[in-house]
Amino acid sequence: MRALTSDSDSDSDSDSGDVDLVERYAYPPGGTWLRANMVASLDGAAQRDERSGGLGNPADQHLFLLLRGLADVVVVGANTVRAEGYGPVRPSEGWDGVRDGRPPVPPLAICSRSLDLDFEAPVFTEATARTIVLAPATADPARLKTARERADVIVAGTDSIDFPAAVAELAARGHRRLLCEGGPGVLAQVVAAGLLDELCLTLSPLLLGGSPTRILNGPPVPVPPELTLAHALQDDDFLFLRYTRSR
Ligand SMILES: NC(=O)c1ccc[n+]([C@@H]2O[C@H](COP(=O)([O-])OP(=O)(O)OC[C@H]3O[C@@H](n4cnc5c(N)ncnc54)[C@H](OP(=O)(O)O)[C@@H]3O)[C@@H](O)[C@H]2O)c1
Repeated sequence: MRALTSDSDSDSDSDSGDVDLVERYAYPPGGTWLRANMVASLDGAAQRDERSGGLGNPADQHLFLLLRGLADVVVVGANTVRAEGYGPVRPSEGWDGVRDGRPPVPPLAICSRSLDLDFEAPVFTEATARTIVLAPATADPARLKTARERADVIVAGTDSIDFPAAVAELAARGHRRLLCEGGPGVLAQVVAAGLLDELCLTLSPLLLGGSPTRILNGPPVPVPPELTLAHALQDDDFLFLRYTRSR
């Protein structure tokens, strides 16, 4: 990936033009930081054939995995887990040194009210970092019991996950560098709750039409956050935009 714009941050980039992604995407030191990573087509689609995979390219996939390596926990909605057939996070190429002093992989934290999840699937049974389930208190008690056998359960909120409380509890457990992989339903709530610090958005050179969702799928955001462009990177016709919250 190359920097699209030259700025003072690029001083340490190599002569070939390839940027140091670990440095470019380093979390700020101290405090809780919630980053979302999403991909969209040029006309704003967050899905292609009801998945996100058809939108990306190898560089997007590389960044997707690297951002996992940089995170303490990966928050994701149950629909995405079901639609994309999520397995547990596994160590990836490019992670050398990025997890020094931390567990080898971050856990997934799956958001669900229905708890309609396959607790016998590898995402639970093969996770080296025990998968976390975020659920509201009124989730089905029998399913909560099953979830507790296979995962660490965090109950936050009554009828619906209270995302500020869930993030606070994750941070209290040492997961201060959060990565949200969506989907659009979860991300809309994270943004509405004022929790988003950073959006990493891959722009895919496609025009899809139809009626897929955008990267946020929810009611209007009460106080829309203003974001600042931290960098723009390029690989072929793909753009990799990193926006951070204006403070
Ligand atoms: N373009 C991208 O970057 C990107 C990224 C991720 C996903 N996607 C795509 O987006 C689609 C899935 O997104 P989505 O918006 O439908 O779903 P989602 O955000 O992945 O998950 C929604 C589910 O999360 C749970 N949930 C969300 N908010 C909750 C709350 N407040 N309390 C309790 N549970 C809550 C519910 O699970 P239960 O139903 O289990 O109760 C809900 O159905 C897929 O097609 C996927 O491929 C695209």
